Amino acid sequence: MVSIALSRGAELGYTVFACASTGNLANAVAAHCARTGFPCLLFIPSDIEVAKIKGALVSKPKVVSLEGNYDQVNRLCSEIGDHYGWGFVNVNLRPYYTEGAKTMGYEIAEQLGWKLPDHLVLPTAGGTLLPKVAKAFHELKQLGWAKGQTKIYSAQAEGCAPVVHALHRNLDYFDPEKPNTIAKSIAIGNPADGNYVLREVRQSAGWGETATDPEIIQAIELLAEKEGIFTEPAGGATLASAIKLIRQQRINPRETIVVAITGNGYKTLEALNAEAEVDVVLRPNLKIFKEWYEGQADFPTRSVEVTS
Ligand SMILES: Cc1ncc(COP(=O)(O)O)c(C=O)c1O
Repeated sequence: MVSIALSRGAELGYTVFACASTGNLANAVAAHCARTGFPCLLFIPSDIEVAKIKGALVSKPKVVSLEGNYDQVNRLCSEIGDHYGWGFVNVNLRPYYTEGAKTMGYEIAEQLGWKLPDHLVLPTAGGTLLPKVAKAFHELKQLGWAKGQTKIYSAQAEGCAPVVHALHRNLDYFDPEKPNTIAKSIAIGNPADGNYVLREVRQSAGWGETATDPEIIQAIELLAEKEGIFTEPAGGATLASAIKLIRQQRINPRETIVVAITGNGYKTLEALNAEAEVDVVLRPNLKIFKEWYEGQADFPTRSVEVTS
């Protein structure tokens, strides 16, 4: 997405690039600017996770932390973009940036052998991904490269769900909301492309669901425990929403389901228990270990026979 926006922006003559970001985009823009040598400015809400800020800072952009939520950051960025003539990848270069999101649709189709899934659950923040993955599917079908009919579902955190609430209330357009959730990367109360999300979800005969903060944490832990995949709250919200949609019998678990896990959990460790709670702290001694371990009920006592 950033690569398309930056390439086109350079072609259009922009010499400075920037973005408004909840964190993940900032990391991508910083990296692409470092690689291409363009000066870079990143605008973020002041309450985002430390690892997202550090992940951007390492490429040495200018990072501007604003005392407000993402929607306030975004509004200021529209004004700054106009004033200085900088290329904001997700503001004045947005059409190119969003077109880049089709890549995810191509990858889903390719990985499923060009048979589109029956159901696709995607997180919604600013509303880029969902309509553009839908567009990728439409185009692949038009070209005759993929087959299938996919119902598309939007997942949001209950503390910031303008699009899903509009679906549930049967509104034509969403009402902006004030975000309050641990899923900070998708905490966008006034999503630029939210109404396109509504349209695509409805046209595909899909739906939407939300997840509360405790449900998000539970889903993060479930995914890690069952699949070994450690996601951030956006992924937790998406999985928790998918589980609800299955329980509501909107999604048949026997059909092909894709749940998009879009962010890495190492960037949002704050969302989990701040203290790393290990099972026990011991001195490095076999006798001490045995005393502790053999009092445990739920661990295997023997794996393979040790012969030597
Ligand atoms: C982890 C994560 N997942 C998904 C998204 C997709 O959001 P959008 O609806 O803006 O495409 C974002 C956007 O910031 C994100 O950070």
